[in-house]
Parts: sequence; structure tokens; C-alpha cells
Amino acid sequence: MRRIFKKKCIHAALECAENDKTLKRSIGPAGLTIMGVGGIIGAGIFIVTGVASAASGPALMISFLVAAIACTFTALCYAEFASMIPIAGSVYTYTYITMGEIWAWIMGWIMILQYLIASAAVAIGWSSYVVAFLTSLGIALPAVISGPLGMQGSLINIPAVIIIIILTGVLIRDAQESARVNAIIVFIKIAVILLFITIGINYINPANYHPFMPYGISGIFTGAAMVFFAYLGFDAVASAAEETKDPGRTIPIGIIGSLIISSILYIAVAAIMTGMVPFNLLNNASPVAFALQYVGVKWAFTVITIGAIAGLTTVVLVNMFSKARIIFAMSRDGLLPKIFSSVNQDCKAPVASIVLVGGMAAVIAAFFSLDSIFELVNVGALSAFIFLALSVIILRRQQPDMKRSFKCPLVPAIPILSIIFCLALISQLKVHIIQIFIVWLVLGVIVYFVYGKYRGMFRSEDIAETDMGGFEPPMETPLSK
Ligand code: ALA
Repeated sequence: MRRIFKKKCIHAALECAENDKTLKRSIGPAGLTIMGVGGIIGAGIFIVTGVASAASGPALMISFLVAAIACTFTALCYAEFASMIPIAGSVYTYTYITMGEIWAWIMGWIMILQYLIASAAVAIGWSSYVVAFLTSLGIALPAVISGPLGMQGSLINIPAVIIIIILTGVLIRDAQESARVNAIIVFIKIAVILLFITIGINYINPANYHPFMPYGISGIFTGAAMVFFAYLGFDAVASAAEETKDPGRTIPIGIIGSLIISSILYIAVAAIMTGMVPFNLLNNASPVAFALQYVGVKWAFTVITIGAIAGLTTVVLVNMFSKARIIFAMSRDGLLPKIFSSVNQDCKAPVASIVLVGGMAAVIAAFFSLDSIFELVNVGALSAFIFLALSVIILRRQQPDMKRSFKCPLVPAIPILSIIFCLALISQLKVHIIQIFIVWLVLGVIVYFVYGKYRGMFRSEDIAETDMGGFEPPMETPLSK
């Protein structure tokens, strides 16, 4: 049983990334920042701001600020790790190195849930904007095929499934291709957001800011726990570590740059939106487009809707990209079947894991509503961020002299602040969401032991190596034998 706490050797992990399963290193700093923005700005700003404004009121902009501060602490931790260990797997890999296999498995299991639900949630948001857009053109899709199961006579969300299938195909073509598609769309969505800011600023009615905090500080934190969703995606940048050029420089720029750009845009949009419309009217499915309609700028509805559709597309793309890389890394370590770490030699992409991700996301997107699942993404991400912060502190002790191209400042203060913020935000989420999350965790532990036993993982000969503080000889992954 000792092997469940076995740690992955940091040097072996780096070496493994250089062997024949290495993904193609093709993404530079600008590409990675664009990829980050592509993965961040989406359903959070275009949809979730509606429900969040009902929780925080005009103080929504402060909720965005609180969530941005929490993400900044986390981003600094990410930047240190991802530039030091630029290989696929993100927090899963860092946890494997610092805490051992069982914790890494739990982390990977959490991240699979997080990215899976995120891809599906955003695809559902994409579908609702597409349906609204088509309706505005006089093309009404039958309700039965254009919404979640059981909502207003609908059975299945076909547009959401279609976008996932298309993006699965794009991802298979290769990372460079995905980055190119992403870059084009990111420019469209930033342009749309800037358009909203430029128009909306002229329609601010100061009376809408009173009362500023109708639900007090607690409302601000509840709103922050919701809009935290809007920032997710900067973490996905770390998942692309194995596909970046000069990762020591590229990754910190990509993570921190994309977070700064999105924070500025979000706080501006929140401030303007709540100034344009009384906050209690914003709780609808397309609050950004609604705000423009409310002040009478009807033409902008179409433009914003097209921008939102574009924006949501890249978020689905980046989330699916990240999840495929987590599955790839777990498979390479022998914790999932080997087929998921095979890289197709033509397109240099982990095709089996991409198809698995696409299939699972399509099934969830087909039947669920966005409201019912997006907080599940937040609890998964916040837990991952806690593990990440712990890993930074642990690795500073285990490997104080290891070269770090980027160092998180003020360790352990920043990682500890990151943990405190994450716990505070988790405490604001709905109780049933936390319960579902706990069930997922328990299921994960059961799968780990059942699958491990089936593959003979816990035989005594597998634990012959000694724990040398992360410097054991390269690990032979028992499940890949
Ligand atoms: N940050 C992503 C979005 O807002 C998940 O859609």
C-alpha cells in the first residue's frame, strides 16, 4: 500500500516529457496569452453575470475584483510550477511530484470533472446564444431539440452537441491549428467587449448604483464565488506547458498576461452594465446583450450575440484541450489505460483522449442546463487551486535549489492567502453542489483502488524503491507494463 503515496521524480517527469510521447512545442508567449484569453472570456461574462448580479447588486464589480485577487495569488503559484515543470498535466503532475500518487489521482479526478463540466456548461451557453440569434433572424429551432432535458418541452440540446463535435475535430488536427482558430476568435470577442464598453459608458445612470451593496459583504462574496467561473481558463494555460516554446518565459507571461487582460475587461463590463440597468433586471440568460437593448441600442444586440457565440466557442475549445492533456498525463503515468497517452504521429495530438473528452462533454451538454452545473466547475477549480498552493510550499522545502525560471513572490504568504481565498469562496457555494462534489471524490477513490487492484498496482514489488524526497530513480509506471 505504500505505493499510493509514491511520489513522481521531478527529473523523471521532465525526461519522460522529452521521450517519443512528447507533444509538439509550437506555442509562443503571444499565442499562449491569446489562448488564455480565449479560454477565460466566455459564459462567465456573457451569462453568469446575470445570476451573480442578483447576489451582489451593483457591487458586482467588487465581486469581480475579489475573484481576480484570488486568481492572481493562484496564477503566481501556477507560473512558478508551470515554468519549472513544463509538462502536460498541470496541478495533477505537480501534486504527483510533491504529495504522491493517491493525491495526484484525486487531483486528476477533480480536474477531469472541472474541465468536463466547464466544456459542457459553456457549450450550453453557446447553444442558448445561437438559438436567440437564429430566433432574431426568424428561424425558430424546435424546442424539443434545442434545450436541456425537461425544460420547456425540450429533450436534448442538439446545438450544444454539434459545437462539441466540431471542436473535437479542430483539436485533433493539432495544437497549432487550435491556437490559430482560437486567435482569430479571441480578437472578435475582445472587439465586441470593447464595443460594449464604448457604447455602454454613455448610458450610465448613477441612480442605478444605489444601493451599491444591497446584500452587504456577504452578497459580494457570494457573487465572487459565482463570477469566479468567469476567470477560469488561465489555469488551462498551464496544461499547454508541454506544447510551448521556451516555457520558462512563455508560461508566466501567458498565465499572468491573460488574467490581467480579462480582469480589466470584466471589472469594466460589470461597472458599466450595473450602471446601465437596475441590477434586479439583469438576472436573465444574456445580460450583456440585454443591457444594450434596455437602453435602446437594439442594433448592438446582433453584434454582441455574434461576439458571444465566438467567445464561447474558444472557451469550449480551450477547456477540451486542457482536459485531454490531463487525461493524457494520467495515462502516461499508468493511472488510466495506455491508449489515452498515445500520440498520433501525423497530427502530434493525443487523439484518443480528445475523442473521450468530446464524447463525455457532448453527453453532459445534451441534457443539462448551465445554471445547474456551473458551480460544480468552481468547486473543482477552487479545490485544485488549494492543492496547487500547497504544492508550491512543499516543493520549496523538498527542492529549495531547483532552478525556477519564475518564482512566486513571498512564499509561503502568497500560497497561504491563495488557500484562504479559495476556502472562503468554496464556503459561499450551494450546499448541494458541495455534496455532489464529495460524491464525485468518493467515487474517484473507489475507482483508484478498484482499477489499481485490477491492474496489480499494489503488489509489494512495485514499492521497492525508496522515497528520496522526489529524487527516486525514474518511475516505471506499473499500469503501463
Ligand atoms: N471562464 C470561462 C467562461 O467564462 C469558463 O466561460
